Parts: sequence; C-alpha cells; structure tokens
Amino acid sequence: RILILDFGSQVTQLIARRIREAGVYCELHPNDVGEKFIREYEPKGIILSGSHASAIDEDTLKADPYVFKAGVPVLGICYGMQTMAAQLGGGVENGKVREFGYAQVRAHGHSKLLDGIQDRQGPKGEGYLDVWMSHGDKVTALPPGFQLMASNDACPIAGMFDPDREFYAVQFHPEVTHTKQGTKIYNRFVHDICGAGSQWNMPEFVPQAIQRIRDQVGKDEVILGLSGGVDSAVAAALIHRAIGDQLTCIFVDTGLLRLNEGDQVMETFAKHMGVKVDRVNASEDFYRELKGVADPEQKRKIIGRLFVEEFQREAKKLPKAKWLAQGTIYPDVIESAGAKTGKAVTIKSHHNVGGLPESLHLKLLEPLRELFKDEVRSLGLELGLPREMVFRHPFPGPGLGVRILGEVKPEHADLLRRADAIFIDELRKAKDADGTSWYDKVAQAFAVFLPVRSVGVMGDGRTYDYVVALRAVQTTDFMTAHWAELPYDLLGRASSRIINEVRGINRVTYDISSKPPATIEWE
Ligand code: XMP
Repeated sequence: RILILDFGSQVTQLIARRIREAGVYCELHPNDVGEKFIREYEPKGIILSGSHASAIDEDTLKADPYVFKAGVPVLGICYGMQTMAAQLGGGVENGKVREFGYAQVRAHGHSKLLDGIQDRQGPKGEGYLDVWMSHGDKVTALPPGFQLMASNDACPIAGMFDPDREFYAVQFHPEVTHTKQGTKIYNRFVHDICGAGSQWNMPEFVPQAIQRIRDQVGKDEVILGLSGGVDSAVAAALIHRAIGDQLTCIFVDTGLLRLNEGDQVMETFAKHMGVKVDRVNASEDFYRELKGVADPEQKRKIIGRLFVEEFQREAKKLPKAKWLAQGTIYPDVIESAGAKTGKAVTIKSHHNVGGLPESLHLKLLEPLRELFKDEVRSLGLELGLPREMVFRHPFPGPGLGVRILGEVKPEHADLLRRADAIFIDELRKAKDADGTSWYDKVAQAFAVFLPVRSVGVMGDGRTYDYVVALRAVQTTDFMTAHWAELPYDLLGRASSRIINEVRGINRVTYDISSKPPATIEWE
C-alpha cells in the first residue's frame, strides 16, 4: 500500500483516487506523521502532495526526514517536489510569474517514471507532455544525486529524479484530468516503481469487509439508520450480507422525502433483500412541530432534533443492540482528521442521519470508512443494489423541509413531490447518443416550492396558483457549482408536464444561479 502525505492541497484526494483506480490501496495522512507511524504503516511508496504553503518560508510544512530514509520510492507533486528539493539540498525560489493552467513540458533523461510516456514527439525524438500547472514557487537547483526529468520555459526544472534512491518529483499535477497522461504516470509509479500489485478492487473488498464485520461484532446485534441515501444503503447491504438478521435498520419517514421514496426503500431492502427494517411513520410529528416555522435554520434544528428523538425511541425497542452502524465514508474521515490537526475548521458528524448522539451508548460500526464515493457506488452494484439507487443524487438530511420555502405544509410538500418526480423523470428520459441521461450528467437536480401565487390561464378559466423553480447543477465537490445548461426542449417538456399534471402549480421557472454566490439548495 501507498502512503500519501497531505500538505493541504485542494486536490490531494484526487491523488488517492488515481492510486485506488490503479488498483492499489492508499491512505492520506497529515504531512507531519513521524518515523514510528511510517514504519508501522509499511508503505511500498510515499507520495508528497501539493500545498498552498511556500517551501521558501523558514517554518514551513516539511516531511519527516525519515520519509527520505525509509528505503522506499518517493514521489513529490508540486509543493511535494519543492519540499523534496529544499529538504535534500536543492534550491527553491519564488517565481516572478505564477504558472497556472495548461502547460507543455519536455521530458528529459531516462527516468522510470516518464520514459516512453508522451503526448507528442519533437523533431529530435524528444517527448512532450500536456500537463496542468498551479504554482508560484519553483525548484531552481537540483539536489545532489538528482537529474532533470522535465522542463519548460516558465519552469526549467519541472521534474527531477534520483535513479539510485528512486525519488521522483514533478511540478505539475498528474492527478487532474487535464494532465492527459496522469493515469499512466501514477500507474508507473505504483506498479513499476513501487512494485505494488493490483489487489484493490470491489470484488476482493467484499469478502474481506464481510469477515471484518463478523470479527468485529461477533454475535451482537447492530442497528443502522437507513436514509434512502447511497451510503447508508450500501452499508446496510454489506452488513446484512455479513450478519443477516443481527442487523435491524431503522427508517424514519419524516414526511419530507421524495415521491414514493419510503415505499421504494421498503421494497428494495425489506422485500427483495430480506433486511429487517423498522419503518417509523413520523410525518405527523414533523408537520406538527414545523407548523408556523419559516426560518430555514430553525426548520433544520427542529427536523434534526425530531429525527434523533424518533430514532432513539425506536432504538430503545432493541435493547440487545450493541452497535450503531453508519455509512461514514473516507472523505468524512479525512475531514475530521484534518479538523484534529487544525487544517480544516469543522468536524462533520454524519449529517445525513442527523448526527446521532453518543447518548445511545453504542459502539460505532463504519464499514465504508476507507471508501471514496465512487468506490461506495461500485460496492453497491457489486452487492446487487439497483443502479438507480446507487447513482441517486444526494438529498439533504432535512429533505423537502428546505425545499419548501417558508412554512412547511403537507399540501405544499405533496405538490412539490409530484413536480420534482416529473422533472427527474424527464431528466432520466433525455439521453445522449451514447445512452447517458441528463440525470447522470448533473450532480444534483430537484424542484423547489415557492409559496407565491401568480395568475395563469387554463382552458377558459383564470388560475391563481403556486410556482416551482427547477434547479440542476454540475459540480464535483458541491463547494462550488455551475447551473446546468439543460436543453430548452427538456425544460419545456418538464414545465408543461408539471403544469398539466400537478393541479395547483401554474408556473415553472429555471434557476440559473451558480454557487457562489447562490447556494445549491434555496434554504
Ligand atoms: P448548499 O445548499 O449548501 O448545498 O450549496 C451543498 C450540498 O449540501 C446539501 N445540503 C445538506 N445536506 N443537511 C444535509 O445533509 C443539510 O442541512 C444540507 N443543506 C444542504 C445540498 O443538498 C448539496 O448537495
């Protein structure tokens, strides 16, 4: 396995995903882990990530000196290259111009990392690579023992290597897709240089994960909060495969779910897979408590509190349960680790299930802790979950509660649910020549209920009905997002179907705001 030392770049997680895609297990850890940690981890290779820090500063972020003594190959990326140079006796200076975006570099020397990998060939047979750059500082002198591996005009040392110690470094980012040969470069590093095998894949993961769950829980009973979302669904399927009826799922129907969502969850889990699911119909409680409340944050608090109360009440009926299973995934783990080392600001409790309290006195079972989202999805498929469920867009914990602006009324939820289902149906039906639907091309899509009424005309009559706004965004991280440029005919079909089929709505708008400054949800 590979160890990635995180110096805090935005794209460090992408490095981990490229390595995993190459079939090799890897973990991300803070840049300052020491010798003891590294020895125990027993990496086959170490990768130093990029960073916003400057390698020139005196008290800057460094790798533990043991990284360069561990006797395993090391690959430095961007800042990782600069700190490698600075720590091993080379030179780093502040470049006068920042190099940001697409660039071309020329490969030099015969390094195991880049030899034979190129996008095009020059007249003298030299190889060129299209790469993505993002840096201000640059390496200006090779450390002893190093040779030049890549260069361009803006960055005369854009890559370096020490063939004896198997140290490699590049100024560009092979993990972003703009670096076309990036995948090949990572494959080279992990397979040919580090000698790691391709053992990381979901078919191999399943039996190991099942064994681990069995070892962990023994004969104990486990409860899990099913939300309808991907992570909890995959966790439930995996744990059920491991321990069968020792698992009980609690599904709190808040009345704020999507159309038929509750029934679909029961159909998939209870009926098809034979999982024990307690469905708690709590919608009346939710609507009662939300009556008259219009403030978004207050609504979130009420929904979160009620969810926990309902879950706890149900959990008490299972006094033998010793474990609480959660669909925590690797990005959540990295974020909370980051928070402990002061690199990130907030610890994220698993907000999809409303952050279940410690007062349940249960031990945590988190079988997806080491998986990225795309791995959770392939695991879900491997376990036989329906594709539709596995590739479902994310849905916020407070559900329709934050998509009905202002006070949440059951009759408004009913209108919204039907409008939303039509929009999603049209997105799924609109397919490219290669069969990819618009649903799959956007990261999240939904309808929002606006509690304003406008005048319309239907047949010979005048209507005075509500408005829904449609929202579809493209994003990978949900921190920033662009409104999706959906085809007009698709929007037109969704609009006329909603107005014709959902009595009570006579106007449909499309939200063309990006995040920032807008957010994805309206509340
Ligand atoms: P915003 O609206 O903040 O949304 O741009 C970013 C992503 O987070 C989801 N979201 C939530 N998820 N509880 C959740 O579990 C919440 O209170 C919540 N608010 C927003 C939103 O759907 C989008 O994917």
